[in-house]
Amino acid sequence: MDGYDSRAPDGCAVVVGTGGLGRALAGALDARGGHVRVMLAGRGGEPFCDLTDEQTVAALAHRVWDTGLPLRTVIIATGFLHGPGPNPHQVFAPEKTWRHLDPGHMAHAFAVNAIGPALVAKHLLPLFPASRRCVFAALSAKVGSIGDNQTGGWYAYRASKAALNQIIRTASIELARSRPLSLCVAIHPGTVETPLSAPHAKAGLTVRQPDQAAARILDTLDGLHPEDSGRFWSYDGKELPW
Ligand SMILES: NC(=O)c1ccc[n+]([C@@H]2O[C@H](COP(=O)([O-])OP(=O)(O)OC[C@H]3O[C@@H](n4cnc5c(N)ncnc54)[C@H](OP(=O)(O)O)[C@@H]3O)[C@@H](O)[C@H]2O)c1
Repeated sequence: MDGYDSRAPDGCAVVVGTGGLGRALAGALDARGGHVRVMLAGRGGEPFCDLTDEQTVAALAHRVWDTGLPLRTVIIATGFLHGPGPNPHQVFAPEKTWRHLDPGHMAHAFAVNAIGPALVAKHLLPLFPASRRCVFAALSAKVGSIGDNQTGGWYAYRASKAALNQIIRTASIELARSRPLSLCVAIHPGTVETPLSAPHAKAGLTVRQPDQAAARILDTLDGLHPEDSGRFWSYDGKELPW
């Protein structure tokens, strides 16, 4: 079977991001029993990991290496849409118009949503064994799709997720050269009840609980094959346009 099965106990999984989806994904991976160890890393996690500080990402890779277990799964569940930036007194909200564009807001969105996941790829992808099927998945967002952009707005979030998607695609090409059984994908989780979505969930939208969303995401990852690498997936298994 070349499909990934997170139910066969083996190796180590790392979820980065201790928010609603990160905690639910780590819990679901643990409950499925597919890995000997599931690490939940992040600013509120153990190991501590702040994506804007590369040393903490490198330290995370050392912690994984020190387990002596093969790394099989990495899921990045961090993200920034609204809230304080590096200066806690400066609070950013998604831009409704170009009049609201702010370089500090854009830089922070790119640091968390694109550059941080790229650093996780830099430090963790080399730990994937060459002869096994491993999965590197970053939670992206449908609003990061350029092809699907119908409504505009949310410049920093959209553009930083589009940059993340390009990083995932680029890393997937490099990964395939040395680890042809493995996958590197972007995945949209749907609209999920978390602090990130709370102020912006529109009436009429289906909003799922993090546990429900985590189960759909893992089922979708389980069903992907190496030829599905380098693509943008929705939680329900459908492919999204870049
Ligand atoms: N919820 C949705 O409806 C929805 C829809 C589309 C896409 N997504 C994507 O899904 C992912 C998970 O979001 P969520 O819904 O679970 O939101 P969330 O509960 O707000 O979690 C986001 C997490 O990102 C972490 N984070 C932010 N900056 C960080 C940094 N510099 N270093 C390490 N961690 C950092 C936050 O850490 P702290 O807890 O320390 O602040 C928070 O735990 C994000 O990529 C988001 O864009 C979510």
